[in-house]
Amino acid sequence: MASSSIVFVTIFLATLIATTRANFNNDFAITWGDGRAKILNNGDDLTLSLDKASGSGFQSKNEYLFGNIDMQLKLVPGNSAGTVTAYYLSSLGSTHDEIDFEFLGNASGQPYTLHTNVFAQGKGNREQQFHLWFDPTKDFHTYSILWNPQRIVFSVDGIPIREFNNMESQGVSFPKNQPMRIYSSLWNADDWATQGGRVKIDWTHAPFTASYRNFNANACVWASGSSSCGLSPSADSGSDWLNQELDSASLERMRWVQTNYMVYNYCADLQRFPQGLPTECTSTP
Ligand SMILES: *[C@@H]1O[C@H](CO)[C@@H](O)[C@H](O)[C@H]1NC(C)=O
Repeated sequence: MASSSIVFVTIFLATLIATTRANFNNDFAITWGDGRAKILNNGDDLTLSLDKASGSGFQSKNEYLFGNIDMQLKLVPGNSAGTVTAYYLSSLGSTHDEIDFEFLGNASGQPYTLHTNVFAQGKGNREQQFHLWFDPTKDFHTYSILWNPQRIVFSVDGIPIREFNNMESQGVSFPKNQPMRIYSSLWNADDWATQGGRVKIDWTHAPFTASYRNFNANACVWASGSSSCGLSPSADSGSDWLNQELDSASLERMRWVQTNYMVYNYCADLQRFPQGLPTECTSTP
């Protein structure tokens, strides 16, 4: 290739990435909270807050059918007991699909719990919970959902913490036909969230604020009944994510997290499933 075309291609790519960079004004709408949710710095930052009156929330303008979606969050600092920050993908209706991250606040100095769940065709009950290996209130950290036709992978700072495989061949529903939006909200859940509901929100610390930045989606956007696998907003990683699986190094890291930081696993809760653990817990894909 002549060097002038290399220069041209480089400039073209740089322009493409720059013009499609994520922006909360373009990609999201505030849907709840009466001024408690704010998009700041020309769309680079978003904050949600919760006070005694109510919480707040936002959702993506687009619906997606599969994607590799990153968001950076900095959670409510200090005494966040009783607060829940939910960040999730969901479709609508009684047979909806859903892929959940929920951050359950805690008393000062006590660890957040990262709660995850997967709903397919309206059926959830697949909770796994983790503590984190860092303080999620000090800095922004990246929370990612890889969702392709074969698997769902939850990751934190690029480290996979949970994988839910497509096991339709064994009769387990898998989310793959219903487009989902991205949602997030910060709300009062002190009836259950912290230490089983024993620790309540201390309103003297209100308002409680969580911050968001650097949304990045390589995703198939759903529009007028069909999905286009565009490369939005960053064009650098192609569509490899559509077939991505965890390599042995990633599986090793996931095992490290699950061994050291998992605090609840429905697949190990024999008391809850006296008739036998769910199929996805006992077979391999
Ligand atoms: C809060 O801290 C307690 C004590 O360290 C811990 O057992 C619990 O998992 C933490 N998270 C929540 C949401 O209660």
